[in-house]
Amino acid sequence: MSYPIQRPRRLRRTALLREMVRETRLDPSCLIYPLFVCEGKGVRREIPSMPGNFNLSIDMLVEEATAARDDGVTALILFGIPGSKDGQATGAWTDDGITQRALAALREKVPGMTLIADVCLCEYTDHGHCGVIVNSEVANDPTLELLARSAVSLAKAGADIVAPSDMMDGRVGAIREALDLEGLTQTILMSYAAKYASAFYGPFREAAGSTPQFGDRKGYQMDPSNAREAIREVALDIEEGADIVMVKPALPYLDVIRDVRDSFEVPVAAYQVSGEFAMLTAAFERGWLDRERSILESLISIRRAGADLILTYFAREAARLLSRRSPGRADG
Ligand code: PBG
Repeated sequence: MSYPIQRPRRLRRTALLREMVRETRLDPSCLIYPLFVCEGKGVRREIPSMPGNFNLSIDMLVEEATAARDDGVTALILFGIPGSKDGQATGAWTDDGITQRALAALREKVPGMTLIADVCLCEYTDHGHCGVIVNSEVANDPTLELLARSAVSLAKAGADIVAPSDMMDGRVGAIREALDLEGLTQTILMSYAAKYASAFYGPFREAAGSTPQFGDRKGYQMDPSNAREAIREVALDIEEGADIVMVKPALPYLDVIRDVRDSFEVPVAAYQVSGEFAMLTAAFERGWLDRERSILESLISIRRAGADLILTYFAREAARLLSRRSPGRADG
């Protein structure tokens, strides 16, 4: 029995009804705001391909984090831009590294936020790769020790969550073991489990100065053609001790988010990456897309695909939009 008995439009007639039958909701508590911290004082340098995003010195980072908290954002992920780089990524694991100092400052001055530290070597190596180089290759096992050292040092500095983004095999296990050895048993591990070798990281690499000086990341990040492999990567990370798993990028990989959601019980995060942000922002600047509606629609799509958490450069703006509207409202 179909029309005229069945009339789906009945449930769409008013905003109140649409709100009542809405299947997916967006809430500021599921948003994670990425920030880039650099050396210096009073530095707030806009990233050309990411309008509204900045390289921030620690004092300015504290201001930005406070403003984000006032907007309703509850979690931050930090990326460090060190003053100097070397072959061993010293800046990533030294206790007085830029991210370590930034975490300590945020802990003290911006309470009430969940602090996440990205764990990777690429911002700290002089060659821009995510691991150490041995015989002109990114060497997996020698990299693990440095990642583990970095994670421990970031956790001690105040990170509630450490988030390895390097895609070395076995890094989740190595980090979990190192954290446990130091008694850091409550540190949450959010792994970039299915991270693809994507063109959409371009603006981030400009922001973090982490473009590889030779070759590319295809020997460790995933081939965009592969979906089954994402399940394998996620399964391994959970086995090794990941608490939250991430798919990255988000919009071009909604199918992967759905597969991961359906296959595992742990919270799933998705990263709406710099290129996704840049693409939308460029269209907004040209007046080709409606800014507020497109931001909320892109985020609700990622939630609908199955992500519990979304890392997004729109976090502040989205949190503001959501507090203006009724909860979960994504239809403009
Ligand atoms: C570091 C890292 C990258 C991103 C997050 N962590 C860059 C890369 O892998 O080249 C990308 C984030 C974005 O594009 O917004 N390994």
